[in-house]
Amino acid sequence: MRSLLEAGGKRAPFLRWSALRMAFGMRHLMREWQVGDGREDALADYVLAHACPGDVSDAIRAVDEFCYQRSVMMNVGDEKGLILDTAITRAQPSRLLELGTYCGYSALRAARVMPPGAHLWSIEFAAANAEIARRIWDHAGVADRVTAVVGSLGDGGTTLDCLSNDHGFAEGNLDFVFIDHDKAAYLPDLESLLKRGWLHRGTVVVADNVKIPGAPKYRAYMQAEEGRMWRTTEHPTHVEYQTLLKDLVLESEYLGQP
Ligand SMILES: C[S@@+](CC[C@H](N)C(=O)[O-])C[C@H]1O[C@@H](n2cnc3c(N)ncnc32)[C@H](O)[C@@H]1O
Repeated sequence: MRSLLEAGGKRAPFLRWSALRMAFGMRHLMREWQVGDGREDALADYVLAHACPGDVSDAIRAVDEFCYQRSVMMNVGDEKGLILDTAITRAQPSRLLELGTYCGYSALRAARVMPPGAHLWSIEFAAANAEIARRIWDHAGVADRVTAVVGSLGDGGTTLDCLSNDHGFAEGNLDFVFIDHDKAAYLPDLESLLKRGWLHRGTVVVADNVKIPGAPKYRAYMQAEEGRMWRTTEHPTHVEYQTLLKDLVLESEYLGQP
């Protein structure tokens, strides 16, 4: 059945078995942030075996190939990844922050299009996921431009303090944020960044999965602040690695405090 559904490694217009397997594993996923069948470790093994060392584009290709031909993963994926690439290319950020590393796929995409000298810090509270991402980044040759920080912005200040004390986060020096972690944490974590004063006029914030699984409070906040604190473009798109389910990516430019 799988070879029929996933023929040619193209986005299938219907749900795939490995996506259903992921849905069945939802409880495990929400607890451990891994599907529970070893697909995350298998992905790292696959990239190390099939992508040219030091070639970030080939690492991205290998991840997508694995996701089309073997197991679906909750990466931003190739279709939504293009929206992320374009936003970074337009913004030309020097300091980037990602919330939700998983296996490091979106960070690979960011590293490929970031301007020279830019750096991405990626926050991930599952240490096992951060380790998998580091293996892939090392292999792809981007480890000097991407740092995984194990933690969570909602941990009472520990991770935020770590970012300011150990990684140079300071008033107005954060240029780009990619939000792709716990959907209920999108808005509170953005508010924490605002409270620290790290954003500046022109900082761009991109949020994945605003339709599925959905971040309704985040979307409502951006709608309420349109033209005041934020200017937002909503990008209609699809859930990763298929074309049946629609998703929404929000790209918001910070206008400063009104
Ligand atoms: C959708 S995946 C990220 C996908 C990744 N951005 C990509 O496109 O390759 C979400 C990740 O966020 C992590 N996560 C969930 N809630 C978190 C939180 N509150 N703080 C930090 N990481 C979190 C999960 O462990 C999981 O690895």
